[in-house]
Amino acid sequence: MSEEVIELKNLKKYFTISKGISTKKIYVKAIDDVNLKINKGEIIGLVGESGSGKTTLARVLLNLTKPTGGSVVFNGVNLTKATRNEMKKLRTEVAVVFQDPASNLNPRDTVMNSIMRPLILHGMPKKTARQKAIDSLELVKMDVRYLNSYPHQLSGGQLQRIAIARALVLNPKVMILDEPTSALDISVQAQILNLLLDLQESFGLTYLVITHDLNVIRYISDRVAVMYLGKIVEFGPTEEVINNPKHPYTEGLMAASPIMDPHDRDKEKYIMQGDPGSLINLPSGCHFHPRCPYASEHCKEESPQIIVLPDGHQVDCHKYAAVKNI
Ligand SMILES: Nc1ncnc2c1ncn2[C@@H]1O[C@H](COP(=O)(O)OP(=O)(O)O)[C@@H](O)[C@H]1O
Ligand SMILES: [Mg+2]
Repeated sequence: MSEEVIELKNLKKYFTISKGISTKKIYVKAIDDVNLKINKGEIIGLVGESGSGKTTLARVLLNLTKPTGGSVVFNGVNLTKATRNEMKKLRTEVAVVFQDPASNLNPRDTVMNSIMRPLILHGMPKKTARQKAIDSLELVKMDVRYLNSYPHQLSGGQLQRIAIARALVLNPKVMILDEPTSALDISVQAQILNLLLDLQESFGLTYLVITHDLNVIRYISDRVAVMYLGKIVEFGPTEEVINNPKHPYTEGLMAASPIMDPHDRDKEKYIMQGDPGSLINLPSGCHFHPRCPYASEHCKEESPQIIVLPDGHQVDCHKYAAVKNI
């Protein structure tokens, strides 16, 4: 029986912005009614075009911003209702690595100080913290001589290794990786992904890997959630979602990606039209209908309901429901 680490229930995050001198509030529905369960030891990929709400989802999960509605349940504890002690524990259990090394590390701190800081903040004696920093560098396969380096002296790949070492130092159970390889050269990307896979296996970690890159998803994740304008439109086992996408948006993403199998080349694919769309002026009905080659009148009027298939694969689409007679 798989053990659930994270559950998002009807999660919403709306930002309010005011336009010009108008006092009328405009809502940006960055996360709109998201449900997701992540099991212990799983690698979940979260994919979608830029602006679809992926980073906002990570920030809500990390409790860096409060949800507008719904809840995040972590190991059975609801984040919005957690006591101070529960919160303190959770902070050590969930770690994050962002895309941009600059936002992971302070430019004025040596590698040693960067890695030690979270430990010192949690009350660890300096000597023990120093040893932990040395050990963590070994984990990310870097020479200890880098402990005295400053971020500007390191390459992108080395910086990302340090960010991972720092994330690991408090022995987290879950790591959220927001575009962990997007800023890196392609040759370095695979090294970092392999390192992440090794660490996941050694420590039985659970990952949420956020990316717009389907290559990363295919390489690393067990299951994948596809996000479009604040909603998860498809969720299922990675190979299944990539090889047999059920939502037209996923299909469009796959067709737009250069990773397809060579024998897929002759398959007829549609090229997705239009821009990713705006979270401010959301289309009526199904948010994807203006770009969907299969859209009918019904899609313009009503939001689709999530269909859960017996294997757990989920899809949020009228056309699929109609074809399958659900
Ligand atoms: N603090 C904020 N205030 C207002 N809008 C925001 C804020 N943070 C994010 N957004 C908006 O939320 C939407 C989703 O952004 P984001 O989560 O960064 O998407 P992604 O990571 O998928 O590119 C964007 O339209 C973005 O402009
Ligand atoms: Mg982002």
